[in-house]
Amino acid sequence: MTGRIIGFIGAGNMARSLAGGLLANGWPKQDLILSDPEADQRTRVSQTMGLAAVENNGEVADRADVLVLATKPQLLKAVADGIAANVQKTRPLVISIAAGVRIDDLQRWLGGNLAIVRVMPNTASLIGSGAAGLFANTFATQSQRDEAESILRAVGVTAWVETEDLIDAVTAISGSGPAYFFLVMEELERAAVAHGLDAATARLLTLETAYGAAKMALEGGEEPGQLRRRVTSPGGTTERAIQALEAGHIGELFGNAVTAAVRRARELADILGRQ
Ligand SMILES: NC(=O)c1ccc[n+]([C@@H]2O[C@H](COP(=O)([O-])OP(=O)(O)OC[C@H]3O[C@@H](n4cnc5c(N)ncnc54)[C@H](OP(=O)(O)O)[C@@H]3O)[C@@H](O)[C@H]2O)c1
Repeated sequence: MTGRIIGFIGAGNMARSLAGGLLANGWPKQDLILSDPEADQRTRVSQTMGLAAVENNGEVADRADVLVLATKPQLLKAVADGIAANVQKTRPLVISIAAGVRIDDLQRWLGGNLAIVRVMPNTASLIGSGAAGLFANTFATQSQRDEAESILRAVGVTAWVETEDLIDAVTAISGSGPAYFFLVMEELERAAVAHGLDAATARLLTLETAYGAAKMALEGGEEPGQLRRRVTSPGGTTERAIQALEAGHIGELFGNAVTAAVRRARELADILGRQ
């Protein structure tokens, strides 16, 4: 894979974590280049990561074999307009990590006929534990799909979806998902304090419990439901707690939450696509 230049448009949090993950996986520094209008961002990239960072997006688009679009979604149309002529000449694989921008819209803004992979990453990519959904258009070859996957794998796990509308489901599950778990942690901490534990102890027990449960679910070889049943003794304390959660219709609440997020993802994509 080395020798292929990976260019990032936007040197913000996501681009830096992806570039950092690639470096950690042995990608040569000279194969990575970033552009950003903000001098501070460029300095951060060049001084702390030792990577080339330039002001001009066109320079990155001209050099990149793989072009990662990592600006905020609402800026992507202007960014795409600015590099359309460059990418029509160089025809890189385009990877967009911008939430809510559909491939057809991006393709139109970039002038058409490009291999594009749309990615929905999540915030845990910033610490190398991301979960990203990927969708490729029909212009992308198998080797380009593999290349996109290997780049995203530098910061976490990846899953391909068969149709682009499933990216909205990915958005609602893993994109927004960290916030659902943070909310559960917040509420558990609150309940712990209400029952007399000091705040520091409440936090420690809550976070380690969340971490331990996730680790068991990831490593244990048993489904979450099975793990839950295993720790729910008949007549015990866990059973009472689960009964209380079910009486509050927890399943329905999560179902409604995910449906609301999917709907909003569609609405946002419609709005961004009208630019
Ligand atoms: N962070 C997450 O958890 C997350 C999760 C899923 C998806 N995403 C997606 O990832 C993308 C990047 O997110 P982020 O958190 O990394 O945002 P970010 O930190 O704001 O990074 C965006 C970078 O792009 C720069 N930029 C602005 N205008 C530009 C232009 N015209 N040309 C080139 N660069 C420009 C920004 O510079 P300034 O500082 O000057 O504005 C900033 O450095 C977004 O589209 C977001 O939807 C992020």
